[in-house]
Amino acid sequence: MGPKPVILDVDPGHDDAVALMMACGSPGLDLLAVTTVAGNAPLAKTTRNALRVLSLIGHTGVPVAAGASKPLGRALRTAEDIHGESGLDGPEIPEASFEPDERSAVELIADTLRGSVEPVALIPVGPLTNVAAFLKAHPDLKGKISRVSLMGGSMGLGNTTPAAEFNIYVDPEAAREVFESGLPITMSGLDVTHQAGADKAQRDRLRNLGNVGEVVAGFLDFFAGTYERAFGFDAPPLHDPVAVAAILEPALLRTRTMRVDVECKGDLTRGETVCDVRGVTGKPPNADVGVELDREGFFDLLHDSLRRL
Ligand code: RIB
Ligand code: CA
Repeated sequence: MGPKPVILDVDPGHDDAVALMMACGSPGLDLLAVTTVAGNAPLAKTTRNALRVLSLIGHTGVPVAAGASKPLGRALRTAEDIHGESGLDGPEIPEASFEPDERSAVELIADTLRGSVEPVALIPVGPLTNVAAFLKAHPDLKGKISRVSLMGGSMGLGNTTPAAEFNIYVDPEAAREVFESGLPITMSGLDVTHQAGADKAQRDRLRNLGNVGEVVAGFLDFFAGTYERAFGFDAPPLHDPVAVAAILEPALLRTRTMRVDVECKGDLTRGETVCDVRGVTGKPPNADVGVELDREGFFDLLHDSLRRL
């Protein structure tokens, strides 16, 4: 079987940057397109960062299209406290060597799906605004999506409020559209991404890879500092690369199929992914939710992809 065709939708963001590199370095994936969304930083910054990261690793042939500059129906919430003013603070990297595609994110996704012989996996790792907008504009192309492997949500505690994880919190209405789309979904929430903490040993292992490994380690050193100050973590979770691994090597994640609903109204719980772990709602399951990660296997896979860049 050839490489799996994928589209990444990103809001770089340090962990998004590593997810992009992982996708580009993996022979098991064919990164057909990248779309950007406002989230960790405003759209202009997340788009600039996606272009810079792809330029840094020489993958300038991947079309990058900018998408939504704000959530479907709310004000944008960004995360400079975690990712810095630029959205990708830490080691300086050069400006991009190529321009964004002139199409919108929605149209690039549509054209990419139309042009692919086989169905394509969507890997959204920021707020789900672009994916929801795409599904609304092109319902006829849902059959060309093999799976949505998203980073977002949590069966338990949130990281932005006690109830909500950032990507879902920023645009709960979009998330609800995606979870109710009927598409096959793998949800890599905090329960599983917090098992992918890049501790100092893993960061040093990356550093020793040389060139791109040094930059990745530098990004993760910055990310480690903000995560330690914000949450007291001793290792920054590689949230978004887990969603890539879930397509690249599904056996690395143990998942449980369950009903997931998104709270859009609650004053205290807006953005909560309400996960029916015990099946008490009687509603049909709509997502495979990550519950356990093969941590060693994940980091070996990450290394194997980054060392090829
Ligand atoms: O809550 C973690 C998620 O929010 C990650 O995707 C991170 O990049 C931020 O977008
Ligand atoms: Ca992200």
